[in-house]
Amino acid sequence: MIQVLFVCLGNICRSPMAEAVFRHQVKQAGLDHVIAIDSAGTGDWHIGHPPHQGTRDILDKNQIDYKGMLARQVTSDDFVQFTYIIAMDESNVKNLAGFAPEPADGENRASIHKLLDFAPGRKDKNVPDPYYTGNFQEVYEMVEESCARLLTYIRDKEQLI
Ligand code: 4NP
Repeated sequence: MIQVLFVCLGNICRSPMAEAVFRHQVKQAGLDHVIAIDSAGTGDWHIGHPPHQGTRDILDKNQIDYKGMLARQVTSDDFVQFTYIIAMDESNVKNLAGFAPEPADGENRASIHKLLDFAPGRKDKNVPDPYYTGNFQEVYEMVEESCARLLTYIRDKEQLI
């Protein structure tokens, strides 16, 4: 199984949106038996909480399922379990380093990317945080486009038809 983990700060706004959108796209592509998807936050404030109301509203509007999704924090085991870790911004990448296991603890399987590395037209490679900006629509558009390109990238890399 190819495993993809989306990571942001709180795991209530951006990464759960990406998790739900990517799962929807993977299902539509008929690849849900090959690609497993999850999300986590580097912060611990919202552990056990459902996605933010703004994220739920935009997912509802686009008929994307997020049933049962609850926030959790990144663990060092994630670096071994997951094939791809997709961060929302540069600070997430920096914070992730603090959770990475020592090389002696085993192989770090995950390859780490920023979501907007998959959006070639964009100069700013950081997904703005709607927890502060309130602009969930803008984030949804970035997530939808970048996740579609991420899927193309993974299909190519993993030689999925
Ligand atoms: P997220 O947004 O990282 O996209 O989930 C945030 C949610 C909560 C907080 C910060 C960012 N917070 O500080 O509680």
